[in-house]
Amino acid sequence: MEQSKENINLNVGVRILDCDHRQMAEVIHELKTASLANRDQSLTVPLLRKLAHFTMNHFAFEEEMMQSTRYPGMAAHRLNHRHLMGKLGALIAHHDRGGHPLASNSLRFLHEWHIGHVHSDDLHYGLWLNAMG
Ligand SMILES: [Fe+2]
Ligand SMILES: [Fe+2]
Repeated sequence: MEQSKENINLNVGVRILDCDHRQMAEVIHELKTASLANRDQSLTVPLLRKLAHFTMNHFAFEEEMMQSTRYPGMAAHRLNHRHLMGKLGALIAHHDRGGHPLASNSLRFLHEWHIGHVHSDDLHYGLWLNAMG
């Protein structure tokens, strides 16, 4: 079940964005590995912070790209980036406060968080960008 989620095609047809999205998926996979029984749970928060840092840079890059290509859907896309960062921040705060191991529902949340970002706004942007030539 979890494996099939990781194999979902997350390409949006823009190589540099696809590369970033793969790296984000890799960090989520590292979190999954770190959460397995008998693993050192102290990696959870640093890995979540690594994901947040990478995501913040990725969103900033996408927003610059949308600005420079005059993408008409930029305002809503940018707003969704803020919303996604807020959700990730809340997850980090939860784990940071309690030192909780990453439970399966948090891992599921991260998969859906990532897939939701790529499969909605980014896919629309990729299709629009490629249609513009
Ligand atoms: Fe993206
Ligand atoms: Fe995006």
